[in-house]
Amino acid sequence: MQPVRMTDELWQHLLSLRENWSRPVGSSADVDISCLTLYKPIALRDGPFVLAQVGQSLDGRIATPAGDAQNVSGSDGIAHLHRCRALVDAVIVGVGTVVADNPSLSVRAVRGRSPVRVVVDCNGRMPERAKMLHDGGMPALVVQADDVPLRNGKHEIIRLPRRADGGLSPRDILAVLTERSLTTVLVEGGARTISRFIDAELVDRLHVSVSPIIIGSGPTGIRLPPIDRLSEARRPKIQVYNIGTDILFDCNLRIEVRQQSGSPGCENILVTDTA
Ligand SMILES: NC(=O)c1ccc[n+]([C@@H]2O[C@H](COP(=O)([O-])OP(=O)(O)OC[C@H]3O[C@@H](n4cnc5c(N)ncnc54)[C@H](OP(=O)(O)O)[C@@H]3O)[C@@H](O)[C@H]2O)c1
Repeated sequence: MQPVRMTDELWQHLLSLRENWSRPVGSSADVDISCLTLYKPIALRDGPFVLAQVGQSLDGRIATPAGDAQNVSGSDGIAHLHRCRALVDAVIVGVGTVVADNPSLSVRAVRGRSPVRVVVDCNGRMPERAKMLHDGGMPALVVQADDVPLRNGKHEIIRLPRRADGGLSPRDILAVLTERSLTTVLVEGGARTISRFIDAELVDRLHVSVSPIIIGSGPTGIRLPPIDRLSEARRPKIQVYNIGTDILFDCNLRIEVRQQSGSPGCENILVTDTA
């Protein structure tokens, strides 16, 4: 497990990469490589990149049954989330998160610019009073199915065809964001939204930030179609980081590591690399 020690200098370097220039960092002995390996793939923005992030408890919960998710992550987990927001072009949440948390999705815990806010609101239930529609911050885009009656509002509404399963295609959502030059995106929650992006094989990196609390009941961060056998489980290549209050699993979903039961030592074997 690698410790992550962010310094002002490293953060300035990462922000400069995000803006397509490179502010040099000090001599190699001073540079915390783990910081760079964690954040550089996001900051470089050299093509479409989808990061999903889950902040969960030891028992895998992202909120209480009543929907309280405010302090699931510790202070360093929150700083990490805000760093990710500062490095991407857009942050995506489902309307369930807006209804439950009324988030602003801005960058506050670190220095950096806030991303464009995108809410997936298939059936048009975005609350008119949602904070992000009135806080004067970055634009808020609301993505709806094209059969939902239009309501007047100040925010931009993007209309997409409803798919056979009754929902919106995550691929269509990314395509309309790409048309707006929003190519590096953070899918921040909740479970239903993240799971749809993972199920559609669109997530490059999944960050699971585990905080040392036990909630005991409540929703889990990822819900995919059921499998029968553990051999069918996804085994992404992971790097584990100690970020302070929380432990972060940085999962590369483009590299699958399959465990072959019955093979000597059950060693991990890389079987795909589409990165
Ligand atoms: N700890 C964390 O990291 C974290 C982060 C974010 C949220 N949360 C918590 O997660 C909970 C909310 O999660 P959730 O899973 O219930 O809701 P959610 O994912 O925020 O929103 C789900 C809703 O968004 C719409 N939606 C999203 N993707 C869609 C798609 N591809 N097609 C059609 N509709 C789509 C649907 O709305 P309709 O139902 O209207 O069709 C769906 O029911 C809250 O308690 C929140 O506090 C925790």
